[in-house]
Amino acid sequence: MRLSTALAALGATAAAALPQVEIKGNQFYFTGNGSEFKIRGLAYQPGGQSAFKSDGNDKFDPLSRPDQCRRDAAVIQSLGANVIRVYNLHADLNHDECVTVFNNAGIYLMLDVNSPVVNTHINKENAKSTYHHGYLENIFKVVEAFKGYSNVIAFFAGNEVIDDKKQARDNPPYIRAVTRDLKQYIKKHSDRFIAVGYAATDTRSASGAGKDSVVDLWNYLGCSIEGEEDDMSRADFFAVNIYSWCGDATFEESGYPELVKDFEKTSLPIFWSEHGCNEPVGSPRPFNEIAAMYGRDDMVKTFAGGIVFEYTQEDNKFGLVKMADTKDTESSDVELMKDFDNLSKQYDDVDWNKIKNIKTENMQVVPPPKCSSDMILGKSNGFASDFSAIPSLPSEAQGFMDDGVTGASPGKLMDTVDYKFPQNIMDSNGKQVNAQFALVEMPDAKVNDAPSNKGPGGSSGDGDESAASSVALASAALLAPVVAAIAAVL
Ligand SMILES: *[C@@H]1O[C@H](CO)[C@@H](O)[C@H](O)[C@H]1NC(C)=O
Ligand SMILES: *[C@@H]1O[C@H](CO)[C@@H](O)[C@H](O)[C@H]1NC(C)=O
Repeated sequence: MRLSTALAALGATAAAALPQVEIKGNQFYFTGNGSEFKIRGLAYQPGGQSAFKSDGNDKFDPLSRPDQCRRDAAVIQSLGANVIRVYNLHADLNHDECVTVFNNAGIYLMLDVNSPVVNTHINKENAKSTYHHGYLENIFKVVEAFKGYSNVIAFFAGNEVIDDKKQARDNPPYIRAVTRDLKQYIKKHSDRFIAVGYAATDTRSASGAGKDSVVDLWNYLGCSIEGEEDDMSRADFFAVNIYSWCGDATFEESGYPELVKDFEKTSLPIFWSEHGCNEPVGSPRPFNEIAAMYGRDDMVKTFAGGIVFEYTQEDNKFGLVKMADTKDTESSDVELMKDFDNLSKQYDDVDWNKIKNIKTENMQVVPPPKCSSDMILGKSNGFASDFSAIPSLPSEAQGFMDDGVTGASPGKLMDTVDYKFPQNIMDSNGKQVNAQFALVEMPDAKVNDAPSNKGPGGSSGDGDESAASSVALASAALLAPVVAAIAAVL
């Protein structure tokens, strides 16, 4: 904290933007050195749905409240996450401070372009009537608002738009259409690659959409219509909101062997856009799936990581932390829950060096299969299988595509940003632990790591060598320019 203030006072340069992340085959990777990037994420929406407010002058979203972001970035950095997923955003608000704080903490963003307000999402009950130029203008505005932040690496074109048989018949073409429109817009109006994909409901356990429908949707969205690599309506990634691993269950009991089998030939990255079953409700989650997801060779090879649902405890009880004052999540103190401790421990136990050393240059890339109705297992049940049914861009939206949309607040990382926050952090025993949760500005655009830095005081007490040394590294790198600058002044 004091160090970064000193840096700012000396006019030192900003913490650098995080390195660009792209996709090769079924993995995300760092463009710079070709290393794989595994998603170790957290869903972030303090206050749940009410984290997003759209009335008149009291308008906000989870990335428009800097005091809240400062507090939470420190906690999430300490946990060791490298991604947050944020669901509902207003394109016309300023997000610079929040996004800069997360960037400087070494954390990437994956963002949903849709929100609950009318005209800003595809209504799954009636996709046709909600896919129109007003909707497209809104999602393009979200791209405009966030494309300038280099730590934004992905947009979700949709989330759980297929839950039953009728939706499985009608909606897949619309998901491909929205994917295409976003990808085309980004290609035309952004100077870098930002991935576009979809977050599916886990329909394996026989919901109305049919038990194969999650596989069908992956096939539907991931194939290429003419067989070409750069098919614009093909998803860049496919994600699933999965809650099948509960409590102390095993890999087998959780249906994971079938997941590996179903998806091992994937041509595009697959990850869990939400995971962390909370049954039995009320007892702390052990997060045993972490060891499998990031430790088993078959999982590491097939999948690209996952996003734990979710940062704050809301009515549905999936939280890692509790707000002392649920009415005011912005200025509330934060209490870590046992779930936080358990997840943190699970992350710390993974051999991340092994993952870091996976180079995408050696990987076997599966080319996208050519789309064909034969690849759809639930075709006879009515699952969409006609690839000529993808609606074209509404003509009223062509101007947005050609000239870009206006009315968004275009984001830009800030040169300097304050990390200090006034709220208190309590550990899961109620002890105040603010000192352990001061955000460490990552030097040289380093991505946040796990085992995590446990704040300037070193590790949180379990004698973790690597945690302590990563803090030392951060401090040393921060000090060097300060010392140099002081020397120059003298
Ligand atoms: C998770 O938390 C509970 C309650 O503190 C504890 O009994 C359990 O051992 C923890 N699990 C792990 C894997 O740390
Ligand atoms: C590749 O670059 C990323 C981003 O800077 C870094 O986190 C990772 O450790 C690097 N990989 C290796 C093997 O050095």
